[in-house]
Amino acid sequence: MKEKVLMIGLGAMGSVLARLLVEKGKKVTVWNRSEEKTLPLRAIGAAYTPDIQEAVTANDIILICVQDYAITEELLQGISLKGKTVVQLSTGTPQDARLMAASFSARGAGYLDGAILATPSQMGTGHTPIFLSGNKTAWATSEDTLRILGGGLVYLGEAPGAASAWDIAALSSMFGMMIGFLNGARLFESEGLQVADLGNMILNIAPVLGQMIKDTADDIQQEKYDSPQSSLDICAGTFDLMVRLSAENKLDAGFARFAQQLFRKGQEAGYGQQRISALMKTLR
Ligand SMILES: NC(=O)c1ccc[n+]([C@@H]2O[C@H](COP(=O)([O-])OP(=O)(O)OC[C@H]3O[C@@H](n4cnc5c(N)ncnc54)[C@H](OP(=O)(O)O)[C@@H]3O)[C@@H](O)[C@H]2O)c1
Repeated sequence: MKEKVLMIGLGAMGSVLARLLVEKGKKVTVWNRSEEKTLPLRAIGAAYTPDIQEAVTANDIILICVQDYAITEELLQGISLKGKTVVQLSTGTPQDARLMAASFSARGAGYLDGAILATPSQMGTGHTPIFLSGNKTAWATSEDTLRILGGGLVYLGEAPGAASAWDIAALSSMFGMMIGFLNGARLFESEGLQVADLGNMILNIAPVLGQMIKDTADDIQQEKYDSPQSSLDICAGTFDLMVRLSAENKLDAGFARFAQQLFRKGQEAGYGQQRISALMKTLR
């Protein structure tokens, strides 16, 4: 059966998703609050139904990519979802996903929660990552359609909150590193060095950084904190230096102070001679 797909939400991301589906020959209907965003998609062959209730009724797979979950609830309020496969691709928390899964399942839908870990221009490649979790039948029904949007689909099982937990944890890792990089870039600038050189250096050591993260994850999983190669006390010293350097070079010390207090808490808890993974005990 060739499922009919409805794309709700044609912002920066939703427009690209709809275009990819149309280009791959899917039977696509689009809906957006502001009608003008439907025009480029109608020009390439998407159908348009101005009444959202009619649009939902006439389609099998309902993809949603709007601002957030509250808007999704509002848009679909009072509309029958019986027999529909609903895939939420807007960003939210695991709790948002759980509540939506409960509410839409009670209304007869197969609910799949999705989290896109890419920008609009990165969509549609063989490895674009999209995390998915929720109803197994909804996953089976929508997998082929979703694969057009990104080849790096990861189905994480039936617990609806898993996809957004993976997404937010990945974003935490990525932006955490980005903030550290920006802090380092400002340091470079203040020393008259080229920021582009720091970018190249980080690219070269990226596999080592990745391995360090993986090793720390394994330590935490196995509760392995002793026999460090580089103790928490030694690592903490980095941030004492960074705070001093910030004063010397008149730099914003916010990042250095944040990390310094985190390490200090670990030291105060008696983990100074343990691995960096011991900070997890402080966070817990
Ligand atoms: N852009 C990215 O790189 C990216 C990456 C991963 C995930 N996401 C997620 O994808 C979702 C959409 O992002 P985007 O970049 O496409 O955002 P966007 O360009 O700002 O588009 C927002 C969409 O939400 C709709 N919307 C907002 N308020 C609404 C309301 N009260 N009622 C009905 N529709 C409403 C907008 O409709 P109008 O056109 O009428 O304003 C538009 O379709 C977000 O949850 C975002 O976190 C985005």
